[in-house]
Amino acid sequence: MDRKLAGIILAAGKGTRMKSDQPKCAMPVLGVPLGGLVGRAMKQAGADPVVVVVGHKAEVMQAALGNTYRYAFQSLQKGTGHAALMANQALSDFHGDVLVSAGDLPLLSGDALAHLHARHLAGGNHMTVATVVFDDPTGYGRILRDADGKPCGIVEEKDATPEQRALKEVCVSVYCFDCQTMLRLLPTLSSQNAQGEYYLTDMLEAVYKDGGRVETVVYADAAVMTGVNDRWQLALAAQELRLRILRRHALEGVSIVDPGTAFIGPDVRIEKDVVIHPSTVIEGHTTIGEGAEIGPNTLIRDSRVGAGASVLMSHVNRADIGNDVRVGPFANLRPHSHLAKGVKIGNFVEVKNTRIGENASVSHLTYLGDAEIGARTNIGAGTITCNYDGFFKHRTHIGEGAFVGSNSTLVAPVSVGDGAIVAAGSVVTQDVPAEGLALGRARQENKEAWAKAWREKKQALKDKGTKPT
Ligand code: UD1
Ligand code: CA
Repeated sequence: MDRKLAGIILAAGKGTRMKSDQPKCAMPVLGVPLGGLVGRAMKQAGADPVVVVVGHKAEVMQAALGNTYRYAFQSLQKGTGHAALMANQALSDFHGDVLVSAGDLPLLSGDALAHLHARHLAGGNHMTVATVVFDDPTGYGRILRDADGKPCGIVEEKDATPEQRALKEVCVSVYCFDCQTMLRLLPTLSSQNAQGEYYLTDMLEAVYKDGGRVETVVYADAAVMTGVNDRWQLALAAQELRLRILRRHALEGVSIVDPGTAFIGPDVRIEKDVVIHPSTVIEGHTTIGEGAEIGPNTLIRDSRVGAGASVLMSHVNRADIGNDVRVGPFANLRPHSHLAKGVKIGNFVEVKNTRIGENASVSHLTYLGDAEIGARTNIGAGTITCNYDGFFKHRTHIGEGAFVGSNSTLVAPVSVGDGAIVAAGSVVTQDVPAEGLALGRARQENKEAWAKAWREKKQALKDKGTKPT
């Protein structure tokens, strides 16, 4: 396709009915801000650039959506038509089509927008309007038609006559325009209406009167085109999105043990024969390899889990877990943890910014921060890397095939060589040579029969009734 496609997301409004300090389009759904769900649908449909019109708490919106969008600013919310016009600078040189959507449609999909654009191209349209036919169209703008049945306008509920209110085909705030036609006609809109706003819906009449081609595209799957106005609608839409995502994975060969308690974000990729156990949340740009087993009671965000790995009752954030790794129960893998193939991370182990080599084992009660652990090394229970001196972070290097005894304290910066042994209970402050032994604890002394003599002395005092002072 030669014709270029851009996108505009209208997200400057406050979302008053959310009753929140947060702007509506920044509110998260399965780990993605509401406006970001619309944005990813636009990108999937091929829109580039995508311009987000922000206004109310603009900086919060920008922080939530990130830097893959262009931003336009609408300082006063004078209506949807005025909001779209604010994108004119960003798109003044853009020759092609532009998808325009409100920022609050959680189920909007790339397919639905691609279909709208395809119909727009096929009809050679100047404006193509997505519509839904509702039994109860209350609150929506109604599509008006001329004597030939051609769409000729949209009337808002507040401006509609009783006859117009009876119309059931409604505008859902999703459109495709020829970009230059839109930018030319937007400044001609008037705000002479019940709300004193510039309505983007009035573009239909403007394009019609301008002699342009207008078409409506009816969507049978109304959910895809439904915006949310309050938190209950948001919760129900999030539920529907969640089920649609789970269904997609299930049909691709993923076992969802309990669809009632599995939460998988829209950008998560899962290979076949993965088992998702109950009460599991997987968000962000996460990938799960073939045959892995996740959960129950697990949260994974922006991470990779290798094939055949298992993560049980654990928290994983921005970590990279290799094939056949075992994690949990009750492990905490923090950002920049890299676990090579076959690593074992057991209960109450926290790992941060650390690389662990193949088949190394960290089975219990350990903190590894800013460290490098070689292949096949065993880290005993209760090992702590002291990586922070109160001012700076320091690294710990442990070689391959080493053995760190239980309850050892490794005071970084420090290194333990290949094949070295650290005796249990050591405080290690100096580098340990390869194949060496570090013994960093007080030597044990045994006193023959000492306990027996001590008890006899105490008993004699007690029998005499004297308490030593
Ligand atoms: C709009 C449509 C209505 C349609 C309905 C579907 C208009 C005039 N009406 O009404 O026909 O049936 O959506 O949900 O377009 N926004 C701005 N700046 C503004 C005003 C709004 O950026 O000045 C943004 C909002 O953040 C929101 C979107 O535009 O994401 C839609 O605004 P909203 O006030 O919800 O429009 P509705 O009254 O629902
Ligand atoms: Ca709305």
